[in-house]
Amino acid sequence: MHHIVYASSSYKILPTEELNGILEIARRANSANKITGMLLYKDGNFLHVLEGEKSIILSCYNQIFDDPRHHGIITLLNEPITTRSFQDWSMAFISYDDLSKTEQTGFSDVIALVNNVDDETISNSQLIVRSYLKGLMMI
Ligand SMILES: Cc1cc2nc3c(=O)[nH]c(=O)nc-3n(C[C@H](O)[C@H](O)[C@H](O)COP(=O)(O)O)c2cc1C
Repeated sequence: MHHIVYASSSYKILPTEELNGILEIARRANSANKITGMLLYKDGNFLHVLEGEKSIILSCYNQIFDDPRHHGIITLLNEPITTRSFQDWSMAFISYDDLSKTEQTGFSDVIALVNNVDDETISNSQLIVRSYLKGLMMI
């Protein structure tokens, strides 16, 4: 098992329809490939956690890396893991600026997850998500 966490920026503030397009493709493909994780979008910035079988994660990341809808990709984590940290959903998507009902569910799920996890057992990806959310003053 492997995970990759990266941050990137969209070229422009993406309209909800475009974000939903990314989300729809990602949900379908990730579910088929047993990829879990979460995608956070705020003010043109993405934070993305991808977890799954190593070769699948690396090829998915290569594809995402070449996607012209974003740039300035910084890999924060690229390492083996023993367990998934985001196993309850195929891809939780949170857009703080424009929350629909489903997005609010995904959003509160992530906050609950990173807030409730024990400091002793928190994983590297959960730590990054928690710090990022704290930085955005969402929690
Ligand atoms: C920020 C961002 C995150 C993405 N996340 C995923 C993802 O988790 N899984 C996925 O299959 N595609 C994701 N995509 C879409 C891929 O980059 C790519 O468009 C998709 O895999 C379809 O590729 P294809 O048209 O070459 O088949 C993401 C794109 C962006 C811009």
